[in-house]
Amino acid sequence: METSERHRDAEIGLLTEEVKSHHHFPSATKTTWRKAALTLVFFCLILGIIFAFLHEDSISIDNGNLTFGDDQPLDALSVQRLPLNVLIVGDWGRKGLYNQSQVARQMSRVGKELQADFILSTGDNFYDSGLKSVNDKSFEESFTDVYHEKSLQKRWYAVLGNHDYRGNEEAQVDKSLNKRDPRWWCDYFYTIPYSVSPSSTVEFFMIDTNPFVEEYWTPDSEHYKWARPTPREEVMASTLENLSSALEKSPATWKIVVGHHTMYSYGPHRNTPEIIEKVLPILEANKVDLYINGHDHCLEHIKRIDSDVHFVTSGGGSKAWKNEFLPGVQQLPDVKLYYDGQGFISLSASPTSVIINFFDINGKILHNLGLSK
Ligand SMILES: *[C@@H]1O[C@H](CO)[C@@H](O)[C@H](O)[C@H]1NC(C)=O
Ligand SMILES: *[C@@H]1O[C@H](CO)[C@@H](O)[C@H](O)[C@H]1NC(C)=O
Ligand SMILES: *[C@@H]1O[C@H](CO)[C@@H](O)[C@H](O)[C@H]1NC(C)=O
Repeated sequence: METSERHRDAEIGLLTEEVKSHHHFPSATKTTWRKAALTLVFFCLILGIIFAFLHEDSISIDNGNLTFGDDQPLDALSVQRLPLNVLIVGDWGRKGLYNQSQVARQMSRVGKELQADFILSTGDNFYDSGLKSVNDKSFEESFTDVYHEKSLQKRWYAVLGNHDYRGNEEAQVDKSLNKRDPRWWCDYFYTIPYSVSPSSTVEFFMIDTNPFVEEYWTPDSEHYKWARPTPREEVMASTLENLSSALEKSPATWKIVVGHHTMYSYGPHRNTPEIIEKVLPILEANKVDLYINGHDHCLEHIKRIDSDVHFVTSGGGSKAWKNEFLPGVQQLPDVKLYYDGQGFISLSASPTSVIINFFDINGKILHNLGLSK
């Protein structure tokens, strides 16, 4: 509520100021002047209240389960702009239903406060089976129309999730989608370097982890069929090669790898051994600071003693509350946060620090992670 409350106060303040400075009642006696001024102030107050109500109404037209108005005040001390500010969400495309719109609304509040530079998606962009083609209407229904607020009109950089492979994953990386919504950017492998000072950058390395997950690609696999022209083995090898050469070449102060699947997680999918085995050693050899994924529909932060990498799951864009996490997970020493519900994270970075805030569906901060160099 804080943002709109502040907005409302400012409005009334402004109107009162106007009454004071611009309205003159030259021929009136002192009492009529005072009466007129009071009436005006009162009138403006009523107008302000009506405006606030209309404003609330226009919000609740947005679809969803929760009645809006449960917004938590954004914690001003935690939500602080640094030279780079991004929002990260995963596992979301459900036409605004199942709390997707509520998460979008909180993203827009935090995005506005941080003036987010761009948004990252950790995959499972369109449920239940990705996009059928580059003309699939789900693109608008689950993306353009849901993340419609002004502060989210920034570039969206996405990786592919397993549900995206259930449809035509090649449609999602097709650059013609740009013509339908210029924010959209998705590919199998790419990097996003961003200067946070004249001599320091943060670089995101976006990878497609799907080819690594063996269970999808067995001959009797129900949902997945390798459809790309390049054989899967070759794609895996080239992903590892491209990732390791990009990481080696990168002069970035902060290196962050983003993929759909978990490495370590206590959520329903647990660890992904193939990715721990093939990808994690490259991250460790190149002093990567963070691996950020979706897949488990939760918010999670793991820091193990046997790895310098922080493992962060941001998969709460809509599907959540599965209640299949490891019992007692919150008490494990390597678990800094496990939250089974919906939400997203923000990441702010400077040459010397990275701050990640984990937000729930009301904009409440559940946990934060601060790194410094
Ligand atoms: C939320 O909305 C979805 C889709 O409209 C509906 O199926 C579901 O039952 C709702 N959940 C609650 C808790 O109201
Ligand atoms: C939506 O969020 C509320 C609050 O966290 C939760 O109680 C409800 O079950 C969620 N609905 C769905 C469909 O996930
Ligand atoms: C790796 O980079 C090469 C050269 O740019 C490119 O042709 C190939 O498609 C990339 N591999 C993946 C998996 O993106």
